[in-house]
Amino acid sequence: MLTGQKIVLGVTGSIAAYKSCELLRLLTKKGAVVSVIMTESAQRFVTPLTFKALGAKEVITSDWEDPDHTIPHIDATRDAALFLIAPATANILAKADQGIADDVMSAAILARRCPVAFAPAMNINMWQNPATQRNIAQLVKDGAIILGPAAGEQACGDKGSGRMLEPEEILELLEGAFTPRVLDRCRVLITAGPTFEPIDPVRGITNLSSGKQGFAIAKACAMAGAEVTLVAGRTSLKTPAGVRRIDVTTAYDMYRAVMNEVSRHEVFISVAAVADWRIANPATRKIKKGYTDTPELIFEENPDILASVAALENAPYCVGFAAETDNLIDNARAKVYRKRVPLIVANLVQDALGQDSNTVVFVERDQATPLARASKEQIAQALVAKIAQEVN
Ligand code: C5P
Repeated sequence: MLTGQKIVLGVTGSIAAYKSCELLRLLTKKGAVVSVIMTESAQRFVTPLTFKALGAKEVITSDWEDPDHTIPHIDATRDAALFLIAPATANILAKADQGIADDVMSAAILARRCPVAFAPAMNINMWQNPATQRNIAQLVKDGAIILGPAAGEQACGDKGSGRMLEPEEILELLEGAFTPRVLDRCRVLITAGPTFEPIDPVRGITNLSSGKQGFAIAKACAMAGAEVTLVAGRTSLKTPAGVRRIDVTTAYDMYRAVMNEVSRHEVFISVAAVADWRIANPATRKIKKGYTDTPELIFEENPDILASVAALENAPYCVGFAAETDNLIDNARAKVYRKRVPLIVANLVQDALGQDSNTVVFVERDQATPLARASKEQIAQALVAKIAQEVN
């Protein structure tokens, strides 16, 4: 949702200025058009050339030296969607609070008409100083957005609050701010990832699902304003910001967690690759070669979570996934009927499993809408838009 947005990145003199280089790179990768303003002390940590080389549209360092601009501090933020000062020192916060305009950065803050956000970065004592806290409180009252700071180890050796948020965290917050809240306060329950069916205490049957698509959907729903509960099988993926996560192992655990949660939710998205069968006779001790006969596994069918939810009296709006190796649309449409769900997102196993991108078709009773190959994040956004259309 940052695509085409004009963002002005203000960099002030903190050691965290090196993180702004990565922030700029992430923003431009998302399609934002980024201009940079640097204070004099910021240029002692990183150079204007660094930002230029990383894709900044322009780098403004002074009100006096750029012949392209008549009035840099005024032109810089014209048509900007956001002025983001990261890192923001105690000094720039104080100046912004007081309306001081004695260099191009502070003057640009005063002259802007777009929203302004600060990602503070400073020593813990400077952050906790009542003067800084007064300035922050006033800036918030004036409508500024304050991102962070985080706690942790500081460049000076102290520990505590004052670290600039990581570039990825800032990006996530900005993406959220730029995403239309089409699922505002909608309660969405999502399953994601693989399930694991134990054979003995160390072995089991699982599958190649990475959880990436389900986690991307959880993130997209949360960014669209939804209250998201994510029931996740075993995966090392990070929980998206603002998402409530319940970890499960087996398909039956997942079934129980979903059934426990579902009545509170208006939408259910079943993305998990759920094992259809579990082992009815798992060994309580490790099965050892040579000590027992060749083990025989007895299989027992797992409940179909999606079908069970769709069959509830007050069923939420249900979306399922179909991973097929062939006959994609026919197989997916059969699931629409068999599981009694309005929408199945169909994909070919070879297109999707473990990858960062996917090719999907939205299959409904009477239509099939193919989407162009896209990242799992983009597919998640398209699905959020589709669900918003259906439930609103
Ligand atoms: O029947 P199949 O496994 O192909 O259906 C896939 C869809 O059903 C997915 O949305 C998956 O999350 C869901 N499913 C389920 N419980 C099962 C098996 C599949 O919720 N036991």
